[in-house]
Amino acid sequence: MIGACKFDFDRSIHDHWRIVALGKVNDRRIPLFLTDNFLRRLFFPPKKTVSKFISAGQVVADIGSGPGFFTIAMAEIVGKEGRVYAADFDRKSIEALTRKAEGHNYSDIIEARTTSAADLSFIPDASVDFAFSNGLLCCMLDHEGAVREVERILKPDGRAYLSVTKRLRKKDPRTVGKDEWHSLLQRFNVVSQGEGFMARWAVVSVRNIDQTRLASRIESLKEGREQKERKGLAENEQQHISCCSP
Ligand SMILES: C[S@@+](CC[C@H](N)C(=O)[O-])C[C@H]1O[C@@H](n2cnc3c(N)ncnc32)[C@H](O)[C@@H]1O
Repeated sequence: MIGACKFDFDRSIHDHWRIVALGKVNDRRIPLFLTDNFLRRLFFPPKKTVSKFISAGQVVADIGSGPGFFTIAMAEIVGKEGRVYAADFDRKSIEALTRKAEGHNYSDIIEARTTSAADLSFIPDASVDFAFSNGLLCCMLDHEGAVREVERILKPDGRAYLSVTKRLRKKDPRTVGKDEWHSLLQRFNVVSQGEGFMARWAVVSVRNIDQTRLASRIESLKEGREQKERKGLAENEQQHISCCSP
């Protein structure tokens, strides 16, 4: 564990020097121990935070999940009937999350991928009841791309929680300033929003439902249901045969 943290810390320093020396900015990696540790758990219990938004059996997504501080709590709430998609571009974070999921016996519930938040193609269109993106946008460059993906994966009646840390360094292109924040939110219906000393947050729902995507999603759901029904019928028939045969 200490080794993993040291490795990530070194990488953060490396990223920092790349910016200083080459003027290149990458998406930001956060040392794992900063996002999941005893003190954060004690003062900000993750289950308490996410239980305001989700319930048993739902399909949810943790985008920019890190090592899974909220993901595990989400799996605990949605349970075996639900599903949790988790995405982070940092391989070490996803490896740590996968190990935790195995430890909690949640491997069937959590599907975790190393991928950019701007490419969530492993999550079907209009399939997610709740998307959680805490402190992600301000760590990456392609804000539009990530927000577009949130919009794509949300069900028409789904919700998303988005939050960003306020501007730390003016010239850092990963920072989401006040104007950009409001322009990003314009894609959505804003259900509620707020601002603290350090961060801005909003709960949003989809405004422009892409009718083509929605229609294809409904078709694939129907197909899934029909397949289930066909399987059920076949099983009934099988049972009937095995009960009734001499
Ligand atoms: C401030 S941390 C928040 C982690 C987690 N949401 C939490 O609240 O504990 C931001 C996370 O975003 C991830 N991240 C940064 N750029 C990303 C990108 N382009 N795609 C996916 N994840 C990214 C980082 O690796 C890091 O885990």
